[in-house]
Amino acid sequence: MTHPNGIAPGSSGDEQTTKAWSGRFSEPVSDLVKRYTASVFFDNRMAAQDIRGSLAHAKMLARQGIIGAQDLADIERGMAQIRDEIANGSFNWNLDDEDVHLNIEKRLTALVGDAGKRLHTGRSRNDQVATDIRLWLRDAIDQAVVLLADFQRALLDTAEQHAATPLPGHTHLQVAQPVTFGHHLMAYVEMARRDAERLADCRRRVNRLPLGAAALAGTSYPIDREFVAKELGFDEVCENSLDAVSDRDFAIEFCAAAALTMTHLSRLSEELILWMSPRFGFIDLADRFCTGSSIMPQKKNPDVPELVRGKTGRVNGHLVALLTLMKGQPLAYNKDNQEDKEPLFDAADTLIDTLRIYTDMIPGIRVKADAMRAALSLGFATATDLADYLVKKGLPFRDAHEAVALAVREAEKRGVDLPQMALADLRTCMAHVNGAGERLGDDVFAVLTVEGSLDSRNHIGGTAPAQVRAAIARARKRLA
Ligand code: ARG
Repeated sequence: MTHPNGIAPGSSGDEQTTKAWSGRFSEPVSDLVKRYTASVFFDNRMAAQDIRGSLAHAKMLARQGIIGAQDLADIERGMAQIRDEIANGSFNWNLDDEDVHLNIEKRLTALVGDAGKRLHTGRSRNDQVATDIRLWLRDAIDQAVVLLADFQRALLDTAEQHAATPLPGHTHLQVAQPVTFGHHLMAYVEMARRDAERLADCRRRVNRLPLGAAALAGTSYPIDREFVAKELGFDEVCENSLDAVSDRDFAIEFCAAAALTMTHLSRLSEELILWMSPRFGFIDLADRFCTGSSIMPQKKNPDVPELVRGKTGRVNGHLVALLTLMKGQPLAYNKDNQEDKEPLFDAADTLIDTLRIYTDMIPGIRVKADAMRAALSLGFATATDLADYLVKKGLPFRDAHEAVALAVREAEKRGVDLPQMALADLRTCMAHVNGAGERLGDDVFAVLTVEGSLDSRNHIGGTAPAQVRAAIARARKRLA
């Protein structure tokens, strides 16, 4: 019998237009619909995972006596050739075959005949695609975790060089208290550490096997899912067939973790951009991360950090896209899920590229320690230290706060920093606050210096250079 599209089902005629389900349909889809529904030009990047999954499935089918040993050998031979064809670019990806799964299966059948047609026994594209994505994402997570460690090491090296380099610490972008540049960078090491933990945790849930769920209800063949799970390095099998083929929460979790990591990198980017502005002038970035202007010859713009900040919006968008994709879907599989791949791939690509670039960019930061120190002398950064000094001499903290505020007002009037005030003048301006002035001695100047301020914050998590060095050592040990 001839099919209405002119091709007998299963005939060896024009394979290009024979759909896997052509027996059921009486007219072909339009070219627009074909393009609209196809995913092959973005899901073919899961080809390696698709082949791996198919080989594990075929091995299981043979072990269970569902297909013959010769079928398995044929499938293995065909897949080896397909792998080569994909690697050397000769594989012909065909829109008519919709997605990576059908393209590979069709080529396999062309190469090895009936064995190729037996591969899909006890399996559906629904559990197949869920398996492929998980295998793909597992690799992406592993890459990102390694890169997060590299990024942390780059931060640690720079932090170590600047464990004692004073930097104005800000709150509300106003000078607050002195910190060290090393301490500041170590804040990002902590963030990256949590980012890596989040990815590792997400991986545990990614690493479960959907295959065996078939279309949605399981299969009547005597399959061995545990065997397939082991073959593919999954920790366990997904325990409910409906859930296995339909939920993409693992991809959403990954995007959330990626969005958070990007958000951290975006904050660091914002700081690099500010610090590189002549208004701050705290750092310079290596030329290879900057570009000039086509009109203003003097310009050196921090394009790379700006793009990181911009791309963070894109990854946040992917997270929202996947959440929205999922929210209205009834169980089990719906074609909506085909839309999971582009956001997921792009989120992973963006994260991985950004981490690579950042790891290279950090050692290229030129620190302008003089500018950092000069900025510290402008913002009364040791005012809190003066208050703490008075408290240690017995003055209640609220009174000390007020006394120092008066001293700052006076210093501001004179256009000097607190350490430049004479002892007598400091005493006079706070004389009326609960006897604050009398508590001041010559030793006050030691706490008003930047180094005195830094050294005094000598507890775990504090900015004292000794503590920063200890934090660096602990972080190195964790990464070892
Ligand atoms: N390309 C599809 C996807 O990405 C594969 C699964 C198709 N299943 C189906 N029943 N149409 O989700």
